[in-house]
Amino acid sequence: MRPLIAGNWKMHGSLAEASRLAEELKGGASGADLLVCPPFLHIQAVVSAVQGSAVAVGGQDCHAAAKGAHTGDVSAAMLRDAGATHVILGHSERRADHGETDAGVRAKTEAALAVGLTPIVCVGETEAQRLAGEAERVVETQLSGSLPDGFAEAGGVVAYEPVWAIGTGRTPTEDDIAAIHGAMRRVLVGRFGKAAEGTRLLYGGSVKPGNAAAILALPHVDGALVGGASLVAADFLAIAKAAG
Ligand code: G3P
Repeated sequence: MRPLIAGNWKMHGSLAEASRLAEELKGGASGADLLVCPPFLHIQAVVSAVQGSAVAVGGQDCHAAAKGAHTGDVSAAMLRDAGATHVILGHSERRADHGETDAGVRAKTEAALAVGLTPIVCVGETEAQRLAGEAERVVETQLSGSLPDGFAEAGGVVAYEPVWAIGTGRTPTEDDIAAIHGAMRRVLVGRFGKAAEGTRLLYGGSVKPGNAAAILALPHVDGALVGGASLVAADFLAIAKAAG
């Protein structure tokens, strides 16, 4: 399947820097689909900057409601309206900073699907959970709680991001990544059937140009969700190149 290399820009950069970074990615045609997810306020500028290129743009969150009295929030329809095609949901930083639960992530995912956005639902264990041998169980529980019916059929994407690997320069072993991705595929196919054979499973957590090729070559790793390295055009494009 064609890999997806997604950049999560988190809460970084100015408007000018976001536009410049987007411009630098435009020529980066490769065998992978490219997606960047800037902060809400930068989405429109980035959409304009990448216009005419194959680079897609996504949000980093959305509200579960279609509209209403939700001060400070952004709906899935607003993201669409601004030109986004994807949205990251349930990132561990949101689960930690904003108390997001599996049920809440599921509701947001339903909202994204309802307006035709492709959700990228994040799951992953903490270091304590991994050390306790619970990584697979935690990920399976998050998957079953966070994904709504119809997810695979609608082309939803899953990202496995071990919390302890995010921004730390540490990654699980290749065997450990392959084991979790294999388990995720089994769970998804068990629930959604054949459609889930084509569900893209991304790995995220300290993906860099130096380790991307090895990670992306693992079975059931269909792309990457990249944080820090997605803020440097040359690094992000090198990761995309490693994908295909
Ligand atoms: O969503 C991507 C992110 O959490 C991974 O961050 O900086 O470890 O690539 P980083």
